[in-house]
Amino acid sequence: MPVRKTRDSVVCVAAILIALVAAIILFPASVVRANGGQDSAATKATFRTKCAMCHGQDGSGSEVGKSMKVPDLRSPEVQKLPDAELARVISDGKGGMLPFKSSLSEAQIHALVSYVRSLRQKK
Ligand code: HEC
Repeated sequence: MPVRKTRDSVVCVAAILIALVAAIILFPASVVRANGGQDSAATKATFRTKCAMCHGQDGSGSEVGKSMKVPDLRSPEVQKLPDAELARVISDGKGGMLPFKSSLSEAQIHALVSYVRSLRQKK
């Protein structure tokens, strides 16, 4: 009987350990997925923190941006550019615009291209 009890508690402790290890492994994975899969709210937040200071929240250009002659992101001049060109400008920069390739992932840059496209439809 005492032997059995010991074995039971060993099984029990092992089960708790396995559950803990699983939680430790799975938890960061779900956090990474939440950041990596750029949903529209996350992209909007990225735009607000990284781009709106020059481009304005709606893409029309902030006061600072207008003094730097940022183009209106909703305008046909910008919207006619292909996705690849928009992604290139965001990652490599252009004129007064800084490059973002070191601070944004490729997925984030692609999500921002779609976000810039969505600004046009909102007008
Ligand atoms: C420091 C101010 C500044 C910030 C921050 C900034 N931009 Fe710009 N952006 C500019 C300027 C200035 C231009 C015009 C560049 C030119 O045509 O010489 C521009 C141009 C653009 C264009 C048009 C490119 C073209 O070829 O006409 C896009 C698209 C764009 N920015 C997207 C973004 C996105 C997305 C972000 C955030 C990740 C961002 N910008 C952050 C200043 C900024």
